[in-house]
Amino acid sequence: MSDINVANKNIAGYSDLADSQIIDFENRFGAHHYGRLGLVVRHAKGAWLTNLNGDKYLDCLAAYSAANQGHHHPHIVAALVKALQGNYASVISNVVYTDALGLFLNKVANMLPQIGPRFGAAGNKVLPKNGGVESVETAIKMARYYGYKAKGIPDGKQEIIVFNNNFHGRMITVISFSSTPKYKTGFGPLTPGFISVPFGDIDAVKKAVTKNTCAILVEPMQGEGGMYQPPDGFLKGLREIADTNDLMLIFDEIQVGLGRTGKMFCFEHENVIPDGIVLGKAISGGLVPVSVFVTNAKLMDMAFQPGSDGSTYGAYPLACVAGIAALDVIINENLPARAAAKGEILKKRILEIAAKSPHVKEVRGRGLFIGIEVKGGDAMVFCRRLLENGVLANDSHGHTIRISPPLIINDDEIEYLCEKLEKVLVS
Ligand SMILES: Cc1ncc(COP(=O)(O)O)c(C=O)c1O
Repeated sequence: MSDINVANKNIAGYSDLADSQIIDFENRFGAHHYGRLGLVVRHAKGAWLTNLNGDKYLDCLAAYSAANQGHHHPHIVAALVKALQGNYASVISNVVYTDALGLFLNKVANMLPQIGPRFGAAGNKVLPKNGGVESVETAIKMARYYGYKAKGIPDGKQEIIVFNNNFHGRMITVISFSSTPKYKTGFGPLTPGFISVPFGDIDAVKKAVTKNTCAILVEPMQGEGGMYQPPDGFLKGLREIADTNDLMLIFDEIQVGLGRTGKMFCFEHENVIPDGIVLGKAISGGLVPVSVFVTNAKLMDMAFQPGSDGSTYGAYPLACVAGIAALDVIINENLPARAAAKGEILKKRILEIAAKSPHVKEVRGRGLFIGIEVKGGDAMVFCRRLLENGVLANDSHGHTIRISPPLIINDDEIEYLCEKLEKVLVS
C-alpha cells in the first residue's frame, strides 16, 4: 500500500496534490518507458497547457499531432458529453450494429478519394482500432493477405518493403522492422518479412523487390525519424514501382495526415493515391483513442471475414462520436488551409531566427510540421530551455526540435513561440 497522501477531492483523475507527489506516483508505480520533462499538466485548452500554479505553456508538440484541433475543442467536448448523458456512448458487443459506428465509417470512407483506384471504383472501406500501431498491424495483415490471395505468394513468405528510421509504433511486429536499436533490443524473437531501405532512395526500393514482395509501407513524411520530407517525386516513384510489380502501396499518415502538413492528407502534395492508408491521432481530436485502416472495398472484403480481425473497443460508440466531431472540426474550420498559412509564416520566422543562431544546422518541414535540426545533435538541451520559457516541444530522433503545435494556433501565439525560440536559439 502506498503511504502517499491521496487527495480528498472527490473527482476521479483530478487533484491538488503537489507536482512532486504526482511525479513520485509515476516513478514508483509506472513503467519508466518515457523520459518525461518536469511539467505536470493540470489543464489543457486550445494551444495551452497549465500547471498547478497556473503557469501556462504553449503546446508545440500537440501529442504528436493528436491534438491538431486544440485541446478540449468545444465541439468535440459537447458531442462527447451529449453522448454520455444521452446513453449512446458505451461499448456495445460487436455482434450487433450501432448508429455511431455506421455514421463514423460513412464519414471516414467518404472523406478520402477512391483508395487503390487500380482495383476499381468499389468505394472505400474502413477498419477501425484503438490507436495507431494497431491500425498499422491491420495494414500489414491486409498487405500479407493480398500477397497470399491475389499474388499467390506462399503464406509465410510475404515481404513488405519499409524504410530506415521509420516509426510505426511500439508493438512486436512493428518494432521488428525499426532501425532504432532501443525500440527492439531484447524484445525478440522479432517478426520476419520486412526489408528496410533508405528513405527517399527509389533505386534501393526497386532492388529490394522480390517475387515475394506484397507491399511498400511508408510515412509520406517521417515524423519520429527526424522530420524528413522525401525528395520530390519519391512518392510518385513508389507508386510506379507498386503498379509495375503489383504491390500494395500503403501510407502511414498517423502523424502527418488530417491537415498537419497543410493538406488534408500528406499524399496530396504529390497527388499520389495509395492502396491503403492508416490514420490515427487527430482523427478523434485528442480525446478518445481511435485509428483506422482504409482501403479499396474490394481489397478489404478479400482480406477480412468474420473472425479474421476484431477489437472489443475498436471504434466503440464514444470513440465514433469523438471521431465524427473531430473530423467535423478539421473540415469546418478548414484546418489544412490554416496549417498551410500559419506554417508558412512560422517557417519564415524560424528561418530568420536560424540565420542568426550559432546552433541551428537546418530547418525543414511543411505546414505546421517544422523541424529545427541543431548542431551537436542534442535537441533536448534546447527543448528543456524552451520549457523553462513556457513552450513545450521535444526532439525528433535526438537531433531535431519538433515544432508541431495545434493547427488552431493564432498569430499572437506564433509570435510568442518565435520570441521564445529566438531567446533559446540565438542568445
Ligand atoms: C507515423 C506513425 N505511425 C504510428 C504511430 C503509432 O501510433 P500510436 O502511438 O497511436 O500507436 C505513430 C506515433 O507517433 C506515428 O507517428
